[in-house]
Parts: sequence; structure tokens; C-alpha cells
Amino acid sequence: MSDNFDVVIIGGGPGGYVCAIRAAQLGLSVACVEMRGALGGTCLNVGCMPSKALLHASELYAEAEHGMAKFGIKTGKVSIDIGELMTSKDDTVKGLTDGVAYLLKKNKVDYIEGRGTITGQGSVKVDLTAGGERALSAKSIVIATGSDVASLPGIDIDEKQVISSTGALSLPKVPKHMVVIGGGVIGLELGSVWKRLGAEVTVVEFMDRITPEMDGEVSKTFARILKKQGFTFKLKSKVTAVKKTKASVSVSVEPAAGGDAEQIKCDVVLVAVGRKPYTEGLGLEDAGVKMTERGQVEIDDHFQTNIKGIYAIGDVVRGAMLAHKAEDEGTAVAEIIAGFAGHVNYDAIPGVIYTMPEVASVGKTEEALKAAGTDYVVGKFPFTANSRAKANRQTDGFVKILSCAATDKVLGAHIIGADAGNMIAELTLAVEKGITAEDLAYTCHAHPTETEAVREAAMATDGRAVHM
Ligand code: NAI
Repeated sequence: MSDNFDVVIIGGGPGGYVCAIRAAQLGLSVACVEMRGALGGTCLNVGCMPSKALLHASELYAEAEHGMAKFGIKTGKVSIDIGELMTSKDDTVKGLTDGVAYLLKKNKVDYIEGRGTITGQGSVKVDLTAGGERALSAKSIVIATGSDVASLPGIDIDEKQVISSTGALSLPKVPKHMVVIGGGVIGLELGSVWKRLGAEVTVVEFMDRITPEMDGEVSKTFARILKKQGFTFKLKSKVTAVKKTKASVSVSVEPAAGGDAEQIKCDVVLVAVGRKPYTEGLGLEDAGVKMTERGQVEIDDHFQTNIKGIYAIGDVVRGAMLAHKAEDEGTAVAEIIAGFAGHVNYDAIPGVIYTMPEVASVGKTEEALKAAGTDYVVGKFPFTANSRAKANRQTDGFVKILSCAATDKVLGAHIIGADAGNMIAELTLAVEKGITAEDLAYTCHAHPTETEAVREAAMATDGRAVHM
């Protein structure tokens, strides 16, 4: 067993393991150090994948309870066994994380289980999970340690009554009332899971709208749809204290601008106010690696830190905390280390919220284009005018395309709709490759599919949508 590698990657999440495989494909000798006991990082273990398993199952439950009758399907009383739901979710996670271990083995990556610390340029010490230490040397080191839950001052996450996204993926029973702090992606996805399973859900959001970074029109429509589903929103509000008793939790909510506090009683509080880069115990300070003011590892345009041969990617560096952004950076840095021109186009990274309907976007929002003084054209097409959405009785939402007034290139696209997460792929390609709205309008789209709404929105940028 050699301890000398071309590349040692610390972290086996979507950034780290993809980087490991790509580097191995390019002929480099690679080790991937991971301390969790399973590969796949937050995404596979306590993030994207378990949440999608619960979102899918809770969607089926809600459909069986309320959604099927309109098609004449009679289900009788529907019930759910939370224990079995959790076992099914855990099986999904195990299958996926084992799958990554298989991929590393197949690509001859040395998977080292333990906590990695950088002990100098080109050297990593691993405290092995099985006991003992291993000293590795590497021509290049890639930090891919991801992120951790951020909390609020004075709020102690116990993962029972006051939970993070991790606790929200393993609740033993459906809470009667869940208060969610933060109307962002995690709050709305996991709030949706427990809402569908029967909880009352109140979301407290500091800003004047949920998902504040999103295109304003989409965010407004999204809030209206979620309210119709029974969500309660307290906007422009902040939580100042959380008091626990054995039986319940009391949450003090104040107007963001200050004023009288209101007490909301609930049985569970979900803290979903963002995540922070995870760099604990990595030895960065001793190694002299420069950090940003926000606690991220500082990198140059080629993912290299201020120390030659030490690179960083994913949630631990600047940019969106998204698994697919980390994967792209993992690929790019492996290619750079192997002597190629790795590159990530940050203008063409899609974002998806997996609620029902889903919300997906890529490129610029209308607000960003206005702020930049760019002349743009809007093309919009509602799912109420799309035949497949009508047949499926899933007509909430629309496709909105923003194209450049001068060149017709697609600058941004925003979809709120049942299948938005899949549909955004075509528009991501458009932004990535500089495709015009006219190109999309003249591309044949299969009928009957929701993707026809993309074509119609592209046509609408030129006032020639056919079905509206
Ligand atoms: P987020 O940044 O999406 O949302 C946090 C929300 O909390 C914001 O709306 C913010 O205004 C609000 N907030 C902050 N402090 C507050 C306070 N004191 N009181 C009330 N509201 C407050 O963060 P979230 O949802 O925790 O997600 C963390 C990261 O994980 C994000 O980067 C997200 O993109 C990523 N993620 C992505 C998913 C996806 O792609 N589907 C799924 C889950 C997470």
C-alpha cells in the first residue's frame, strides 16, 4: 500500500469523489480521505438524496389522500408508517453511498477512511477511523470538505425539538406544528415533506419574501402556491429566542425592523438559515492557507489556494452551495492538475427547489438584468395553456425566458411547474452555448410534453406564442 500519490483529496462528497474519479481517469494516482464512514458527503447522506426520497414518498401520500379523487381513483383512508418510510429512505442512501465506493474501487482510487489534516505542502496526516495514523504525501492536495449547518446565536440545535435539516430527515413522528426559521431551499423542501404528512407549518423569513435570491415574479407566484397548500409565512420577521419545555417549544418572533414579540407554540423548530464552510481540524491555519472573511478557503481562478499545490472546491469555497457546482469544480480541478484547461461556467449553473410544483432557474433574474442595465425581452408561457399539464391536472406555474434585446441570446430562464427540475436542462444548455430564443422556438419539441411550454415561452419573446 503506497502512501505517495499524485493527488490526495480530503472529502468524499460530490466534489471530492467526482474529482477523484476524473483524476484517476486521467492516469493520476489518487487517494480520497473521508471521515463520515460513508462516501457521498452531505448530498447523499443527509442532504439531496434522503430529502428527495422523503419528498417523493410524501408526494405520493398527499396525492393518494387528496389528489387522486379528481381522476376517479378512490383510495379510502390512507395511512403512513413513518418507521417504514425512514427505513426505505435509509436503504436508498445506503445503495447510493455503496455505489460511490464501488465507483472509486473501479477507478482504482484509494479510499482512506479517517480524518485528514494538512501537515504541510504536499503532506496529509490521516487519523484512521479504524485506529492509528497514516502519513500521505501528494503532489497536489484538494480540499473538498463541504459545509455544515449554520445556526443562530442563542439557538441550540438538539436534533430533537430544535432540529437542522439532518434531524428533519429522521423525525420519529409527524409533528403537529413545525416552525421553520428561514424561507430558503431547505425550509421549503423539508417543510413540504412534513406539511404533506400532516404537520401545520409556519415559516419565519427575515426578508420581505421567501427565496429572496430568486426572480421576484417567480418567488411571488411560488409563495402564493405554497400558501394555497396551507403554509403560513411570517415575512420580515426574525426569531429572537427559542424556549423548550418537555412538551413543546415556544418561539419568540419579532418584526425584522424591531417591535413587539409574538410567541408561537410548536413541537419542533427547524433551523434552515444557511450553511457554513466546514474547515475544522484541517490544519489550514498552520499550513498558512488564506481564508476569506466569510470563512471560505480563498482560491484563484484555477481553484488553487495561496499555497502552491493545495486546491479547494465545492461548498468550502465561494459560490452556490450546490452538489452539481461542486461536481463541476471537481472535474475542472482534476483536469487542471493533469495539465488540461479545466473550466466552470458559473453563469450556467441551474438551481432547483424540489417542492410541488418545482422551481428551477438558470442564468440571470429580471432584477439582476435591470441592475446591470441590460436591455432584455421577456417571454412567458403558463402551464394552464399546456395540454400535457392540463391532462395531468398540474397547471400551476409558468416558463419565463429572458433574452437579450440586442442578440436574442437566452440570458436567464425561470420555471415554476411540476417538472421544472428536468425542464431546466434545455435552458441550461441554451445559456451555456449562447443559444438564442429563436433557436429554441425553431427546435421541434415532442407533443404532448410540458417542454412545449419552453418553446412557447421562447416564441413569446417575439410575440408569437401559438397556444396563448
Ligand atoms: P438558504 O440560503 O437557501 O435560505 C436561508 C433563508 O433563511 C434565506 O431566505 C434567509 O433570508 C433566511 N434567514 C437567514 N437568517 C434568518 C433569520 N435570522 N431569521 C429568519 N430568516 C433568516 O439556506 P438553506 O435553505 O439553509 O440551504 C442551505 C444551502 O443548501 C443553500 O446554499 C442551498 O442552496 C443548499 N441546498 C440546496 C438544495 C437544492 O438545490 N435543492 C436543497 C437543500 C439545500
